[in-house]
Amino acid sequence: MKQQFIDMMQFRHACKVFDETRKISDADFLYILECARLSPSSFGFEPWKFLIVQDPSLREKLKQHTWGAQGTLPTASHFVITLARTAKSMHFDSDYIEYMMKQIHHIPEQGRIARKSYYKEFQLHDFKLTQNDKTMLDWAMKQTYIALANMMSGAAFIKIDSCPIEGFNEEKINTLLAEEFAIDSAEFRVAHMVAFGYRKEQPGDKTRLKLEEISSWY
Ligand SMILES: Cc1cc2nc3c(=O)[nH]c(=O)nc-3n(C[C@H](O)[C@H](O)[C@H](O)COP(=O)(O)O)c2cc1C
Repeated sequence: MKQQFIDMMQFRHACKVFDETRKISDADFLYILECARLSPSSFGFEPWKFLIVQDPSLREKLKQHTWGAQGTLPTASHFVITLARTAKSMHFDSDYIEYMMKQIHHIPEQGRIARKSYYKEFQLHDFKLTQNDKTMLDWAMKQTYIALANMMSGAAFIKIDSCPIEGFNEEKINTLLAEEFAIDSAEFRVAHMVAFGYRKEQPGDKTRLKLEEISSWY
């Protein structure tokens, strides 16, 4: 079991170009999205949304502002843009938080009041998330990376390759999302992208710091 997991970690690499002749099956891609959906989030508030971009003309538009995906945007079997929720929905007093607690977590009214007061305290004082909208957005974005890791690991587990992507101009992508994908920028902003497919070439050896360099015991 342990070795299987490590083998999967070794298999995963940032794949720069995919084999265009191979497509991920619908069932396998739904499994990758399920890995995202089942990911943990702070208070269980799921501050994300996943856009699956298959339209070549939309991919071409993304390519103009995404230097980190020049080889993957045209060749990926599936291409995902992960959005993070903004302060508008993550604020303790928002309709979205009420919706999550009531409709998704099925918490009765008294419980919701108590939970909201914890969440408010956490946002106001523990993490000071309400200081400005960017702080709140960054907090939501941090969480989207858990879903990213789970999607990539889940894919690698069934021998599907991936590449995480942050090489883009944030402002330009957010504008494109509003204009071409009908995304409400008051509610969602780009967090990262991730391409999936099957490798065209074998990757080089993994380069990593030694465990002693990145860990300390107390
Ligand atoms: C948050 C994040 C953003 C990244 N952005 C890009 C990118 O834009 N384009 C790219 O080709 N690789 C990108 N990478 C891949 C890294 O360069 C790669 O994971 C790292 O060099 C380690 O290599 P490995 O993943 O093959 O083991 C990104 C990785 C992470 C985690």
